[in-house]
Amino acid sequence: MKNTKETKVELTPFVAKHYNALLNIFSFGIYPHFTTKVVKEANFRKGDSVLDLGSGTGRFACLIRKYIGEEGKYVGVDLSRIMVQQARKRCEGFKNIRFLSGRIEKELSLTEYFDKVFISFVLHGFTQENRIKIIKNAYKRLRTGGKLIILDYAERDVDRALPIVKFLIRKVECPLAEKFMRINLKEVLFKIGFSDFREKFHLKGYVRLEMCKKR
Ligand SMILES: C[S@@+](CC[C@H](N)C(=O)[O-])C[C@H]1O[C@@H](n2cnc3c(N)ncnc32)[C@H](O)[C@@H]1O
Repeated sequence: MKNTKETKVELTPFVAKHYNALLNIFSFGIYPHFTTKVVKEANFRKGDSVLDLGSGTGRFACLIRKYIGEEGKYVGVDLSRIMVQQARKRCEGFKNIRFLSGRIEKELSLTEYFDKVFISFVLHGFTQENRIKIIKNAYKRLRTGGKLIILDYAERDVDRALPIVKFLIRKVECPLAEKFMRINLKEVLFKIGFSDFREKFHLKGYVRLEMCKKR
């Protein structure tokens, strides 16, 4: 999927290189605190094996690592070579953490099964067809009873959103993000084979941490 006006999820080299700094600026400095809180809520456990689809610069890998410990395993997959390089550098020396380059909407080059699949701020940037492919990939790689954890924009009517949110979604994000905010994610997840939904809302309800189990 090439970057069009509709999607910005395939980051430009500039954005990829300065991704963390840009996020800190656009979130007015709250992003580090927010990510720490969310990872705590996601309930990663010692020994968990975790697959992170669209793993970015490894920000979440560093946080998840503390919960899964040395007995756990983390695999991140991302398309951006620049992001994968940054992530590898960040997690250098941790043998149970690895990053792979690849397209998460295509067949994954993995055969192992995971306790948890994490997808953070990725799905909103894809077409609905590709979102379903990504979620199906997550389903395939989860062991039965394994958990899918999605962090992304919540279902909201952007017309009624706060002016700052309207600006961020309509001017900074891509049109696909607003479309994502209109879909019933739980219904999509249920049809693919997930249940036991649990959710936590953040940032005045505009962001949702959705957690569910592979049936
Ligand atoms: C908004 S960033 C989120 C990064 C990270 N999950 C986080 O929350 O910090 C979206 C990520 O998806 C990656 N990405 C975009 N298209 C992709 C694709 N087709 N396959 C794999 N990764 C992709 C980008 O390179 C980027 O790292």
